[in-house]
Amino acid sequence: AGTGKFFVGGNWKCNGTMDSVTKLVADLNDAKLENDVDVVVAPPYIYLDKVKQSLTDLIEISAQNSWVGKGGAFTGEISAEQLIDLGCKWVILGHSERRHIIGEDDQFIGKKAAYALSQNLKVIACIGEKLEEREAGKTFDVCFQQLKAFADSISDWTNVVIAYEPVWAIGTGKVATPQQAQEVHAAVRDWLKKHVSAEVASFTRIIYGGSVNGSNCAELAKQEDIDGFLVGGASLKGPEFATIVNSVT
Ligand code: G3P
Repeated sequence: AGTGKFFVGGNWKCNGTMDSVTKLVADLNDAKLENDVDVVVAPPYIYLDKVKQSLTDLIEISAQNSWVGKGGAFTGEISAEQLIDLGCKWVILGHSERRHIIGEDDQFIGKKAAYALSQNLKVIACIGEKLEEREAGKTFDVCFQQLKAFADSISDWTNVVIAYEPVWAIGTGKVATPQQAQEVHAAVRDWLKKHVSAEVASFTRIIYGGSVNGSNCAELAKQEDIDGFLVGGASLKGPEFATIVNSVT
């Protein structure tokens, strides 16, 4: 950890029921969370309002996606304006599941980021390579290309956090080693310095995601350029998520 306030997001993905969400919120409300950490959870859309109404204000709410522009006749979509109306502060964009399962491309994701930011929705911008890309030595190329698409559409980085999530580490239990993650985080920061500005490179938080859990978080958190985490599976368990939030100390 090095840059800005440590940031931990919990991406609940397409998980949960009314009962399990009620229990998770109760566990999070009971948890002792380090004050000096930005904590955000991203429930599925249908539970956003319930979570917003019942969760401690110490934790902000994120959506897992948003529509690319102003709302209207877009069946099944949710707009940034609607998310803001609900009290949602953040949105996750460019998650690998949306890139590779749903088929969202760099340009579409970049447009989503620009639109969300224009509506004052803060953005968790995700990038990351697949296993075959890493094995082919293309990790930096892939990450920089995805980053460039964000950079092409973002003019003000104040409300952006970058999440590096290697696809091979997501939901696999195969966490990146602290060295592997640090190497990419440092390269991402360097890219920002060269292609955006030294100032943006120094204040933008770069968080790691991919099989983070209560046991591996402390070592990762010690790395200079790991400024927090985006947690999937382990964010569904309140006490373990609290351990990850508190791992910075
Ligand atoms: O967005 C978080 C994520 O993709 C990581 O998921 O389950 O590997 O922690 P998980």
